[in-house]
Amino acid sequence: MITLGIETSCDETGVAVTSGRRVLSSTVTSSVHLHKKYGGVVPEIASRFHVEFIMEVMEAALKASKKRLKNINLVAVTNGPGLVGALLTGISLAKSLSYALDVPVIGVNHVLAHLYSSFLTERNVDFPFVGLVVSGGHTVLFYCEDIDRQCILGQTQDDAVGEAYDKVAKILGLGYPGGPVIEKTAIRSMGKNKIVFPKSYMGKDSLDFSFSGIKTAVLYYVRKMRRLDSGMVSDICRAFQEAALDVLVDKTCLACKMKNVKRILVGGGVAANLRLRHKLSEAAARSGIRVYFPELKYCLDNGAMIGALGEALYNKGRRSNLYLTAEPNLAA
Ligand code: KG4
Ligand code: ZN
Repeated sequence: MITLGIETSCDETGVAVTSGRRVLSSTVTSSVHLHKKYGGVVPEIASRFHVEFIMEVMEAALKASKKRLKNINLVAVTNGPGLVGALLTGISLAKSLSYALDVPVIGVNHVLAHLYSSFLTERNVDFPFVGLVVSGGHTVLFYCEDIDRQCILGQTQDDAVGEAYDKVAKILGLGYPGGPVIEKTAIRSMGKNKIVFPKSYMGKDSLDFSFSGIKTAVLYYVRKMRRLDSGMVSDICRAFQEAALDVLVDKTCLACKMKNVKRILVGGGVAANLRLRHKLSEAAARSGIRVYFPELKYCLDNGAMIGALGEALYNKGRRSNLYLTAEPNLAA
């Protein structure tokens, strides 16, 4: 089966051609440069960008896969959660293609697509496992028994961890998106200023998260300092990152212990963070747990994860139809 995967939930326009878990092509273009000066994604700008570029991105993906529209057997599209205008662009294209080509269309949950994105490169991961999705909009721990059977063990009660990275970067004047720049700046820290930010555990056995407190702690620290030199900025980035990642690592390992599983899958934009990869892999290895991360290009939003999950769900009997519409608050 050849599937066209379409992703337009936020600021990346992604189209991919997939077959099972195989990625024949994946093309992504991003409007991130247009949002930089606002310090976050502006929904109307993101939607207009999708409208302008989606056809070009689709044509590039088809060309790279050496397939034509007539070869497509299934159209998979993100139908939520996300920005409503942005989602509608991809959904409109998907439904038009489905009607014109007379092939089925299937709506895919964006958060679950991140959760299973490691499957694009890891072919032999057995169920059950604990899944951690860490993105700009979500921080969720899952228990996964099958590709269509997972439950939420815990999630953030306020900011997502990627959102905390973005807000801390804004406080420090480092620009948007915050994740990559904070990771890079933290590496330069010599640890001269012994800064410690609070870690929020929400209770000893809780698998929920809270990241708004640490963001506020950074804000108060910066206000107190008044003038920051570059060494201080690096130390703040490092202290923030270590505290935020420690909580993610500790709770993910705790989830494995509670559910008695030895496998973890991580997905979402923050899964690109090398410090998270190192810390989680090390902590998990101490308990004999194996961790799987997506390839870097599949951490951020892309059409390949949508195509692969869409096809897997279709094969399990899931169906959508032309009434498919955007669900900005779609739950995982
Ligand atoms: O998954 P994604 O592309 O979009 C959402 O579904 O939200 O994730 C974007 C988020 C942003 O908050 C960005 O700051 C964060 O992922 N991010 C990172 C890194 N690269 C992207 N966070 C930490 N370290 C990174 N290297
Ligand atoms: Zn995403």
